[in-house]
Amino acid sequence: MQSVQSPIIPVVAEWIRQHPGTISLGQGVVGYGPPPEALTGLQEFLADPQNHKYKPVVGLPALLEAFEEKLRVENGLVLGDASRLVITAGGNMAFMNALLAIADPGDEIILQTPYYFNHEMAVTMANCQPVLVPTDASYQLQPEAIARAITPRTRAVVTVSPNNPTGAVYPEHALRAVNELCRDRGVYHIHDEAYEYFVYDDARHFSPGSLPGAGGHTLSLFSLSKAYGFASWRIGAMVLPEFLLTAVRKVQDTILICAPVISQYAAVGALRAGAAYCRAQLRGITETRAQVRAALAAVADLCEVPPAEGAFYFLIRLRRKLSPLHLTEQLIRQHRVAVIPGNAFGLESGCHLRIAYAASEPTVVTEAMNRLVEGLRQVAAG
Ligand SMILES: Cc1ncc(COP(=O)(O)O)c(C=O)c1O
Repeated sequence: MQSVQSPIIPVVAEWIRQHPGTISLGQGVVGYGPPPEALTGLQEFLADPQNHKYKPVVGLPALLEAFEEKLRVENGLVLGDASRLVITAGGNMAFMNALLAIADPGDEIILQTPYYFNHEMAVTMANCQPVLVPTDASYQLQPEAIARAITPRTRAVVTVSPNNPTGAVYPEHALRAVNELCRDRGVYHIHDEAYEYFVYDDARHFSPGSLPGAGGHTLSLFSLSKAYGFASWRIGAMVLPEFLLTAVRKVQDTILICAPVISQYAAVGALRAGAAYCRAQLRGITETRAQVRAALAAVADLCEVPPAEGAFYFLIRLRRKLSPLHLTEQLIRQHRVAVIPGNAFGLESGCHLRIAYAASEPTVVTEAMNRLVEGLRQVAAG
């Protein structure tokens, strides 16, 4: 565990706590809570005393059924004999399940940089080797570079789209290229779709697990945390090749037994509300995103803003040689605005900051951006 990086969020949270009045553009959460339908589900949970007992490892039949329908209609992912669905306690757990099911100690897992830090941490914790492949200047996939990174020890290539921390959305052709590469080279493609509904402008979400023949080597990970304001309820899901089900069941049975049953009831309700719930929230988030973009455009001399048509992040690149961690601390201590430094996502060179903009009301985000812009100007002048 000493070789596993410490998550940065608690460090930033501590600085925020020490400086009351700080507005956080740090943690990647949405500001809204679950739909009313989710809370109705709680009554159904309470009505049956049997619900206080353990339930099936892979999930409640009602939730599996509702999720399967969502996958079919929205993602074009049809579960047949070849693929199975498992309800997990969140997307992070789905990722750990996947790793423990497919990899031996010493195996290599290819991550794209910048990466989602919990993925890198999970790979290290599983005693596997994270192999880092950079994305391009627009944070897009580089399939040729991924191909070159595959060795006999490679077990999987991991992609996340829409992406945390960059906000990049990978187009269908790029995900198809990676998925076919994985098929041809005999490795798994683990694809995280936690932000599937968070796409803007002309970007379209695509599930590579829906490609013909992808079911045998693709693990698709989902989460209710962002879409349904469900972060604390801990519900996610994974679609996996049928022959990995026994392994995943062993992992999940040992670590969790089953996802919290009360949360699974709430999740059935949430899926009843459906994607329309998230899409309605997205109107406000889209407005906030436009404001953030406009504020960043005003400091184009100080930072570059690569395209970000998804999730709710911008990962800006400062045109100054500064330590991102030190800059983050300065922004909190002197300007009362929090962001996440790029080194948390495996960016070793350059000074990057991740801005998360979906947690607060537009007016609060506007104030936060005023502080950030002012802070960046002062630091640049100093
Ligand atoms: C790419 C990605 N996957 C998974 C998660 C975690 O999801 P969950 O709350 O379902 O574990 C996050 C949370 O930030 C994320 O950004």
